[in-house]
Amino acid sequence: MHYTFCIILFVVYLWGMNEYNPFPISGYHGPELFCDREKETAKLITHIKNGINSTLISTRRMGKTGLIYHVFDSLKKRRDVECIYVDIFGTQNIKQLTNSLGTAIMRAIPEKKSIGKKFVEYIKGFKPTISFDGITGEPEVSIDFSSPEQAQHSLASLFSFLEQQNITVVVAIDEFQQVTEYPEKNTEAILRTIIQPLKNVRFIFSGSGEHILTEMFNSYKRPFFSSTQVVSLKEIESEVYMNFILKTLAAHKRKINRVALEYITTWTRLHTYYTQTFCNRIFYSGIKNIGLEEVKTLGLDLLNDQESVFYQYRNLLTANQWQLLNAIAKEDRVFQPNSKDFIKKYDLGSQGNVQRALEALLTKDMVFKGRNENENFYRVSDCFLARWLERH
Ligand SMILES: Nc1ncnc2c1ncn2[C@@H]1O[C@H](COP(=O)(O)OP(=O)(O)OP(=O)(O)O)[C@@H](O)[C@H]1O
Ligand SMILES: [Mg+2]
Repeated sequence: MHYTFCIILFVVYLWGMNEYNPFPISGYHGPELFCDREKETAKLITHIKNGINSTLISTRRMGKTGLIYHVFDSLKKRRDVECIYVDIFGTQNIKQLTNSLGTAIMRAIPEKKSIGKKFVEYIKGFKPTISFDGITGEPEVSIDFSSPEQAQHSLASLFSFLEQQNITVVVAIDEFQQVTEYPEKNTEAILRTIIQPLKNVRFIFSGSGEHILTEMFNSYKRPFFSSTQVVSLKEIESEVYMNFILKTLAAHKRKINRVALEYITTWTRLHTYYTQTFCNRIFYSGIKNIGLEEVKTLGLDLLNDQESVFYQYRNLLTANQWQLLNAIAKEDRVFQPNSKDFIKKYDLGSQGNVQRALEALLTKDMVFKGRNENENFYRVSDCFLARWLERH
């Protein structure tokens, strides 16, 4: 009897260990685990239906990629729509962009669909090398172009293939600001020439580096000027996020009180990745009744876990940059980093010093420039690093 009881306990324990965490911190895991973004989803879908290309902008880790997948998920039942996602962060030039797009099309449209079959036949004309990822088994297209012009030409023909399919094709190009790093100086003009005449292909250009994207799409001098409508992703509303956390925990028989919820959303600034990471930690702590004390302790645990990484940052920055980073963290948002008061309060030296350090921190993505109504401000990008600096 005792033996049977132990086995039952062990099975229950294993089952508990297998319980999935409903606050994933990478990838998209379906609409149930996705919080809100109803307005943004509806807007992107309306754009697609009305032949408008979109630009999706936010600071890092706010949820752009997740939203793209969420939009694709909402469209998955439509037989007249195909969705293609391509992340171009790792691409260095138009050749690589073309290969990434070829790979993305191949992955998005399986060969068992007639358009997938047509695509495989079509791409064979480019004499590509098709390899398969050792781990995922997914295909990878690699075309060896003899010149950048040939790559451009092939890029145009990939899009014209999609254009001719009698369906709407949505192409999401993530990390789009990467094209500004290509050696081909006229990439934007080339892309615009290719993209503008397409009637059946709709684009979502997504990226951070807010200033670069805004500049690309809004400046009169740039080729993408007024060719898309901007959807900018801000923080999810706090009541909505708190309700989502409460319900998600309740579905797994956990309770959390209002003060604890407010603490989490404030402490993580409602910055999606950080809020999710905090909730992920709460869930795997196994605590069933979550109050203020519990969340405070879990927050400190999160910071302790990352402490060695934070110390590494200090080694990678100059003393001036580190000092400025500390000052920004302590203020939370800094509206006038060059002001005498701020410089004096944190003993930051000359205005020139601060300016140089600030530029370096922005380039390294350690600090980002945000906008509050009509005023720009600077903030430490990594919310957990900011919370850790505040305490030191
Ligand atoms: N609405 C949401 N509900 C729940 N989790 C989300 C939501 N949006 C994003 N996430 C989660 O937050 C994390 C960051 O989101 P995501 O990668 O989409 O951000 P991003 O803006 O694309 O970031 P980056 O600029 O670094 O590419 C991911 O782990 C994702 O699973
Ligand atoms: Mg992303």
